[in-house]
Amino acid sequence: MAQLKVENLVVRYGDVVAVDGVSFGVGEGEFVSLLGPSGCGKTTTLRCIAGLESASGGRIEIDGQVVADGPREVPPNLRGVNMVFQSYAVWPHMTVFDNVAYGLRTQRVSRAEIQTRVAEALRLVGLTGFAERFGTELSGGQQQRVAVARAVVTAPRLLLFDEPLSNLDAGLRERMRFELVELQRRLGRTSIYVTHDQSEAMVMSDRIILMHKGRIVQEGTPQDLYERPSCRFAAEFVGSANLLSGVLESVSADGFGMVALQGGLRLRARLPGHAPAAGLAVLVCIRPESVQLAGQASGENVFPAHVSRVSYLGGVLNCAVRAGSLDFRAEFPAHSRMQAGTDVDLRIAPDNVIIVPDSD
Ligand SMILES: Nc1ncnc2c1ncn2[C@@H]1O[C@H](COP(=O)(O)OP(=O)(O)OP(=O)(O)O)[C@@H](O)[C@H]1O
Ligand SMILES: [Mg+2]
Repeated sequence: MAQLKVENLVVRYGDVVAVDGVSFGVGEGEFVSLLGPSGCGKTTTLRCIAGLESASGGRIEIDGQVVADGPREVPPNLRGVNMVFQSYAVWPHMTVFDNVAYGLRTQRVSRAEIQTRVAEALRLVGLTGFAERFGTELSGGQQQRVAVARAVVTAPRLLLFDEPLSNLDAGLRERMRFELVELQRRLGRTSIYVTHDQSEAMVMSDRIILMHKGRIVQEGTPQDLYERPSCRFAAEFVGSANLLSGVLESVSADGFGMVALQGGLRLRARLPGHAPAAGLAVLVCIRPESVQLAGQASGENVFPAHVSRVSYLGGVLNCAVRAGSLDFRAEFPAHSRMQAGTDVDLRIAPDNVIIVPDSD
């Protein structure tokens, strides 16, 4: 059963439709990301769930309780929802202890219990020993942890995160990704995490809700989104993709079809759930790492190509490849020692030639 249900949420600011009919559910204990480019409506959706923003239409339910339905709204402090903001919003003139204890004090929790629960929350985020420091005496990463401790200490029904890691340096950001996920698993709290960073969403989430222009374009596990993008936008936003135009020549009963790509190459491709009819124009998505060196292999989806450029990225080589008049990117392992100017035979498994509906 979904612990959070958002139904047909609409938010308008004058002529701007920030959220345009968004519906989704989040199960108990799930970690779900709202992913999408700047301005697609992620923060607005999150703020509506928290009760910090009024919807123009739609309905929100938490644990079976309707918290927003038209003009009927439960105030934020009665929703059992806490939010961690990008800016952390740690009060600088208060100690770490007082920052974290704030929510418990407003709930009139006893002094002894506050002591225990704040200490536990600080331990969870690795800030034991920081209780008496002031907000101004903390680094960005430490402030971020205080914000997380403050959000979890009242044991809310839902934890909401709005890009909480984007102000941190790259190394700390990566470490904090894993720390946050681990903390969420230990607490078992249902969490909704907003980010525009696809790799962050991929490594952290049980499920990703991909948004574009105020709408949901695809919903699924990170693997679903990566391996079965539902449209051009999804293919380009999640991971890197070669998107090639072609015509679906034939369709067979085993779920595969033949695609004639512009530029001459013919490839066997996996058909999507609702397969287009033979003869129609299609878009094909090929991930760079799906392009393999064929070696001595011959047969299906093997074709000659020319490697025109090689960029060394450490473990892998990112290569510009030309087959006929078709240009695309391929990723080969560094140990292949591929050099620019080499003629090679390449292979792409039919399962990795993904037909995508050509829409956004
Ligand atoms: N208070 C407001 N008044 C008018 N327009 C607003 C307001 N808040 C948001 N918007 C607009 O609504 C749209 C969605 O904004 P939102 O903040 O939800 O985007 P976002 O997906 O969180 O983007 P980002 O990744 O940049 O944070 C944007 O076009 C934004 O300009
Ligand atoms: Mg935002």
